[in-house]
Amino acid sequence: MKIAMIGTGYVGLVSGVCLSDFGHEVVCVDSDPRKVEMLTRGEVPIYEPGLDTLMARNVQAGRLSFTGDLAAAVHGADAVFIAVGTPTRRGDGHADLTYVFEAARQVADALDGYAVVVTKSTVPVGTNRKVGEIIAATNPQAEFDVASNPEFLREGAAIDDFMRPDRVVVGVETTRAADVMRDIYRPLSLRDAPIVTTDLESAEMIKYAANAFLATKITFINEIAMLCERTGADVKQVARAIGLDGRIGSKFLHAGPGYGGSCFPKDTSALARIGQDNGVPMRITETVIAVNDHVRRRMIDKILDLCGGSVNGKAIAVLGVTFKPNTDDMREAPSLTIVPALIGAGAQVRVVDPQGRREGEKLLPGVTWLTDPYEAATGADCVTILTEWNEFRGLDLERLAGAMAVPRMADLRNIYDPRDVAAAGFEAYEGVGRGGFSAPAA
Ligand code: UDX
Repeated sequence: MKIAMIGTGYVGLVSGVCLSDFGHEVVCVDSDPRKVEMLTRGEVPIYEPGLDTLMARNVQAGRLSFTGDLAAAVHGADAVFIAVGTPTRRGDGHADLTYVFEAARQVADALDGYAVVVTKSTVPVGTNRKVGEIIAATNPQAEFDVASNPEFLREGAAIDDFMRPDRVVVGVETTRAADVMRDIYRPLSLRDAPIVTTDLESAEMIKYAANAFLATKITFINEIAMLCERTGADVKQVARAIGLDGRIGSKFLHAGPGYGGSCFPKDTSALARIGQDNGVPMRITETVIAVNDHVRRRMIDKILDLCGGSVNGKAIAVLGVTFKPNTDDMREAPSLTIVPALIGAGAQVRVVDPQGRREGEKLLPGVTWLTDPYEAATGADCVTILTEWNEFRGLDLERLAGAMAVPRMADLRNIYDPRDVAAAGFEAYEGVGRGGFSAPAA
């Protein structure tokens, strides 16, 4: 199959590389010439484990290439994927579809034979139909079908998610389009991945419903965590036990500083808008958005309380600023709320993050970047774990405590056992949703 992938952002690049690994001939298109140059040189603009090797392998095999020339890529393609950004539109929470519609127009002009135009970007219900209308209006001769094919890739595990998906969702209106899509994903049938074929609107809704459900699950446990702290329960024990109920499931029940990233905040807000526009307010999702915001802000108070009510003049070592491990993505990361608040309250913040510096330097002015957690902890008044990178999971706690001015830990991902932290000489510890401790003042 010949495939054009429009947009080499996170979703487009991972999808393009993985589809070429299936044996398809893939041309990835981007309007940013610097990005195309970079990719052509074999450089990957984002950090995603395994992507560089897979990309190099398929470029070498002659199945994968990059260009700024959209028309050339679309020429002769069996399928054209639109994977451009759909950021939250400023002011109203709607997904901004400017890039999707502009791509549709350009694809329409370039179509020269039957092709399926597949939208991979997350778009509000009804968008695929509009994409079809735009293509038909721009080029009335064009022979095409539209398809909706939402992605469910987790950053940091995207290749594995693409290669071993729980399911592939394909929204189509014709059997011809369904056949093309089945051929594209045929390699996955060996792995028994179900291809769920639906109508266009259902495919679009599935993506929002899945992300809103997951965001709800995380927020539910974060709210239970708040109650655990007040009542003396331990949210880790609660989550484990409820997760063993097969109807609930153990995933996405880790209490923390609130969800972030490029998808959950954007998609929950878009779903809330879609609900309002259709006269069916998404009350659960609206509440989830508000509670997540509260959860994030509560983390600031947690750190202040741990530091005796004020961080003014104190040194805080922050371990991890990306929204989750194994990514350099800082979008909607809890650190973007928490770190500026600490600086605003007079703290000196030192940051260690295995991949976050490149993005983080622009977004977190006023912090000192270091590479070693022990160096960051030296003379500090509090160590705050914001992202559960593997590098921070096995720290020598005694060494850490020994280096600090006052050994206190805010473990906002619950990666340490408070008993081990106490035994290592820490004076104070706070996790999320379980008992912390604070040594009485001498
Ligand atoms: C998510 C979805 O998982 C994916 O299917 C979708 O297509 C895009 O959005 P991603 O944003 O990469 O993927 O990250 P994910 O691993 O889902 O985590 C999202 C956020 O939730 C992170 O901030 C993470 O730290 C947080 N989270 C996740 C928790 O706080 N607790 C959990 O139990 C799970």
